[in-house]
Formats: sequence, structure tokens, C-alpha cells
Amino acid sequence: MALPRRAFLLGGHVTPFLGKKHPDFIWKGHPDFGTRDNPTLEETITAAVRGALEATGVAAADVDRIWIGNFVGELFSNQGHLGAAVVGAHPDLLHKPALRVEGACASGGLAFASALDAVAAGADVCLVVGAEVQTTASARQGGDYLARASHYARQRPLDDFTFPALFAQRAREVYGRTETTEDDTARVSVKAYANAHRNPLAHMQAVPLSFEDARRAGDHNPAFLGNEALRPYLKVSDCSQVSDGGAALVVVSEAGLARMGLTPADAIEVVGLGVATGNLYADGDPLALDTTAVAAARAYAQAGLSAADVGVAEVHDCFAVTEILMYEALGFAPRGQGAHLVREGRTAIEGDLPVNTGGGLIGFGHPVGATGVKQLVELVRQLRGEAGDYQVGHAPTVALAANMGGDDKTAVVSLLRAGG
Ligand code: CAA
Repeated sequence: MALPRRAFLLGGHVTPFLGKKHPDFIWKGHPDFGTRDNPTLEETITAAVRGALEATGVAAADVDRIWIGNFVGELFSNQGHLGAAVVGAHPDLLHKPALRVEGACASGGLAFASALDAVAAGADVCLVVGAEVQTTASARQGGDYLARASHYARQRPLDDFTFPALFAQRAREVYGRTETTEDDTARVSVKAYANAHRNPLAHMQAVPLSFEDARRAGDHNPAFLGNEALRPYLKVSDCSQVSDGGAALVVVSEAGLARMGLTPADAIEVVGLGVATGNLYADGDPLALDTTAVAAARAYAQAGLSAADVGVAEVHDCFAVTEILMYEALGFAPRGQGAHLVREGRTAIEGDLPVNTGGGLIGFGHPVGATGVKQLVELVRQLRGEAGDYQVGHAPTVALAANMGGDDKTAVVSLLRAGG
């Protein structure tokens, strides 16, 4: 069943994703230390909003409804109430209905899903924002904050770095019980860093990662978990980054397009959306992302498409093993066979199904509330041939985004089509 009202993306904006090891990230050894600071949450939201309005040519006064995805602004930035923060980004947004959506690392995807609901209900021009600033805390303190996306009472004691530990558990099962090896997850990370090197917005744009370094733990790539039973299954290079950043995009109805003097051919159509939620208090199958698979099935059914139609994808690679499990949950490969895609180079920029072309969460970075929105802006750029040095060459017409919160607890899968 198609969307109740047609919905289109006009495009958007992504701020640079900043954090440790990015050349512009201010830390005590940086030459600019003491003369300037890293952008705050307020500045990040403002930059994303203003950038999206400018990129799409939409006047702030024309926006009907606003959503922002953010996970834990209260903890990293002592700031909640972020609907009002978006309104503060532009004087002409004053008194617009604006609200914040939270679904852990899928907050951005859920903000987008909320905007689609509003279009279905009659809204014509929606602004969707995602933002997170995380470098205000150490990675270890951030591990505690991010653990709020797990079942904290039960899972927090696993490790100071709770989410890395949760996915080390999955990696242990995947390495032990399927064909996927540590070399395969190393290939995922090497692909992510290599793509990030072509992306001027990426957190890891200047950080080299060789296959030799990625495939085994060492001084440059420590196995860092305190939990000794899980430590062998995860290295720093397997992990998404602790990044600051924002993204925003504009979603419109057909009437919204007409209001701007545009036609469907000028925009990217949203043809399918699947949202699914798992039980926070129960562990799923460690070898599968079952919630994501349900969201994907719903999105494909709505679009009347299958995995074979997808020409480019953004998937939630919070850890390298997650990307391989995503390939399987999204139907790109049969269960247990996802590693073949990365082994054969099929998900490289030059492959037939490029995945995470700007570097993904591992290379581009992962400011958690921004990620789901950034994925969609990335896909619009790929479908329009505007992805610069990491543009794919085969002119895809269908794109898929998969954004995940927690350990496969909230999943948002979106399908986009170019060409009206
Ligand atoms: N040898 C041994 N141990 C070392 C080491 C070495 N050479 N170098 C570092 N370490 C250890 C230390 O214990 C260090 O911790 P302390 O400094 O506190 O002692 C730890 O490794 C981390 O080192 P750094 O702080 O120097 O590393 P970093 O700042 O570069 O961070 C990272 C690396 C810990 C992997 C960090 O990037 C990280 O936490 N990434 C994951 C972020 C995350 O979990 N995001 C959420 C994903 S889950 C999701 O998307 C769903 C959801 O809803 C949450």
C-alpha cells in the first residue's frame, strides 16, 4: 500500500561531523586551543536548520511543522526542550509547531517518520532536524550516557562502554557460528575510512586505516573493553565515532511542491517507510537484526519494491559487525552470508550496491540524533549526482536508509526514488 499522500524530499544540509582526530576539532594540543571552541548544540542546530533552508530555497515562514531528533541533550549539553531550540534557529520559525523525538540512535529516523505522518495528515512543508553534541564528555563518560539506550538496569554492568560490549557479544556469536570472520569486519571498517577520506564533512577524513591494522588488535587499534570475556571481539576500529554534528532536511507534499513552483521531477520521492520497535527488556537473536528486518519488510511492501531494486544504501553501522547483519536484515544477502558483499567489493563505492558511501557511522561519524537525518540527505545527494568525490557511478534510482536505535530495538527503514 503506497503512502496515503505522496511525500518528497527537497534536500537538506549536513554540518561537518567533528570529534577526536578531526583536523578542526579543538582539543588541548590544537593550534587554535584557547582562541575558539567546538560548536555547541545550539550552534549545531542553527547551522543545520539554516543550511537546509538555504540549500532547498524554502523560506522559514513557509514551514508548517518541525521535528528534531536528539537522544540525550540533557546529559551531554544540559539542554532539553529542543523543539524550541529549532525555533530559535531562525526568526521566521517563531510560533511554528515544533517537537523533539527520541528513539536513541534512531531519533533522527523517527523525526523523519513523524514528518511523513504529518504529510499524510495534511501538512505540506515539514522541517526535520537531527543533532547531537557528544564530545563535552570523555568517551568513557559518554559510554554511560549512551547506555541509556540499552536496558540500563540489566545491561549497564556489562562494561563502561556498554554499547561496544553489546555488539562485541554479537560479534562473538557471529564469528563463532557463521562464515563471517574478523577479516570481514575489518573490510567494513577499511571501506568506511576509505570512503570518509573522500568526504570533506567526515569525522575520520584524515585518519588512515589499513587492512593489516584493522584485522588485529594492537597499540594503534586497542581491544579496549574492560570485560575480559568480550574484549577479544571488538577493537577501536570496529566502532562508530563519538561525534558532534547536525543535519536537516525538508519534506513536502505534492501541494508543498506546487507552492514552491516545483514538480515531482524536481524532488526525490519517499516511496516506502517501515518503523518497528522491539522489547527493550528482552535480548533478541544475536545473529540477526530482527526488528530492522520487520521495518524493511514494511518499507518494501509499501513501496512495491524488493532488495534487488536498491541501488545505493545508508545502513546503521554502529559497529562493523552491525553493517554485515544489516545487509542480511535488509535482504541484500541471505542470513549468514552478508560478509560476501563486502568481501567481493559489492558494497564499495565502485560496487553494484554501494553502502555508506560517505563513510557511515564508522567513517563519517555518529552524532546519534543526527545520523538518521544525515543518511537521508546523503541519499538525496547520491540520487541527484551531487555526492562529489564519493558519487557512485551507476546512476541509481532507488535508495534505502536504515537507522537503528539501541541493540536493534527501534528501526526506521526508508525507501526513496528519484525522478518523480
Ligand atoms: N591499549 C589499551 N587500551 C587502550 C589503548 C591502548 N593503546 N588506548 C586506549 N585504550 C583504552 C583505554 O581504556 C581508553 O579508556 P580511558 O582513556 O578512559 O582509560 C579506551 O581504550 C578508549 O580510548 P580513548 O578514549 O583514547 O579512545 P577514543 O576517545 O578514541 O574512543 C571509542 C574510542 C571508545 C571506541 C569511542 O569511539 C566509542 O565509544 N565509540 C562507540 C560510540 C558508541 O557506542 N555509539 C553508540 C553506538 S550504538 C547505536 O548506534 C545505537 C544506540 O541507540 C546507542
